[in-house]
Amino acid sequence: MGFIRHIPGTRPIEPVRHHDKTLGVGVLGLHEGRTLLLSLSTRCSDARPVAGCDLSHEKIEASKQELPDLFYTTDYDTMLKRRDVDIVAIYTPDAQHAEHIVKAFEAGKHVICTKPLVNSFDDARLILEAGRRTGCRLLVGQSTRFFEPFRRQRAAYERGDLGTLELVDAHYIHRMDWYYDKSPWAAKCTDWVFLGLSHPIDLLRWYLGSIERVSAMASTSALGRERGVVGPDIYIVNAFSQSGALGRAMGHYGCHELPRARNCIELMLYGSDSTSQAQYHDMRYSHLAKDGTEVVEDSLYAGRHYYFNSEVHGMHYGEFANYAEHFARSIIDNTDASPSLEEGVETFCIMEAVRRSSREGVPVEVRPLLKQVGL
Ligand SMILES: NC(=O)c1ccc[n+]([C@@H]2O[C@H](COP(=O)([O-])OP(=O)(O)OC[C@H]3O[C@@H](n4cnc5c(N)ncnc54)[C@H](O)[C@@H]3O)[C@@H](O)[C@H]2O)c1
Repeated sequence: MGFIRHIPGTRPIEPVRHHDKTLGVGVLGLHEGRTLLLSLSTRCSDARPVAGCDLSHEKIEASKQELPDLFYTTDYDTMLKRRDVDIVAIYTPDAQHAEHIVKAFEAGKHVICTKPLVNSFDDARLILEAGRRTGCRLLVGQSTRFFEPFRRQRAAYERGDLGTLELVDAHYIHRMDWYYDKSPWAAKCTDWVFLGLSHPIDLLRWYLGSIERVSAMASTSALGRERGVVGPDIYIVNAFSQSGALGRAMGHYGCHELPRARNCIELMLYGSDSTSQAQYHDMRYSHLAKDGTEVVEDSLYAGRHYYFNSEVHGMHYGEFANYAEHFARSIIDNTDASPSLEEGVETFCIMEAVRRSSREGVPVEVRPLLKQVGL
């Protein structure tokens, strides 16, 4: 289909070529999951699409038009019985993730689960227990980590360019009227602390490591009230890490966006030696060079074919391909992949601490929640 598969200088040029160890992926939930199916067929070598499942015939027909040769079904159990499915990738509404993960584990399948991994304490316990019992592996599809500027920012951090981290500041803001229209469950069956804040909280944990305590406040926007959201849709969070570094996260899902001034997702890292910022979805990575020059790496035009679908701005193709490839390669090589089941459950506990802190009006310790959940 003529997609380019790399950004010059960031990964080697390689055509989509499957090999005898390439793993088969069956995707459950074909709205956001359809993006993964297409990404697998155009961008991945270590994983390939083999099956798609959705309750909706319309969703199946839409995927079939683009990828007619795959196996499609409305019945999850039928997909789980297939021997060519090595990995199940789950893109159903948040509250159903745990049930679908446990079923996949019990069928002997590895799992990719989109964010948020789960949205309740009982579900967190359930999937951790099932993962340990079955020995199957899981990767949380935290797409932001796998977007180009965030990969570059991480590489620089791991090289030591930032020095010691002192403050991490992340946000995800997005006006969600269109999402309530498309997916009514977003207002009634989850909380934005999971659905939305899973992006910035995962980023805080990725850099700060163990977070000891959070202090949070929450409120509901005019849009949230109009749509009858069950929880708040505006959150601000302060986080205290074991290392002494501080974190701050913010989410607003009823705001009027000002995208040039503030991208949907941004991550600022303030270190002892330098500062950097990654942005979604303008695809910019900015950092301070050793001589004090502010450097802006803008990969939007180079990367739009891979990360989007050749539109100037689009959704998630590259990130989904990057994490699917990362997970499949780790299974083939028997190496670690991140964020793992345990990391995902830890991130859930931080989000749960944020939820409790915002309701109770006091700081909440994370460690007791980790213990209670079995970590
Ligand atoms: N950045 C990201 O990674 C990102 C972006 C958007 C959404 N998400 C996550 O992806 C998930 C799905 O979001 P969406 O926007 O695609 O939701 P959606 O409501 O548009 O689609 C969910 C699909 O799941 C199907 N489904 C539900 N139960 C099923 C079952 N038992 N068997 C088969 N199919 C079933 C529905 O028919 C529907 O097509 C959510 O958890 C959301 O938080 C992640």
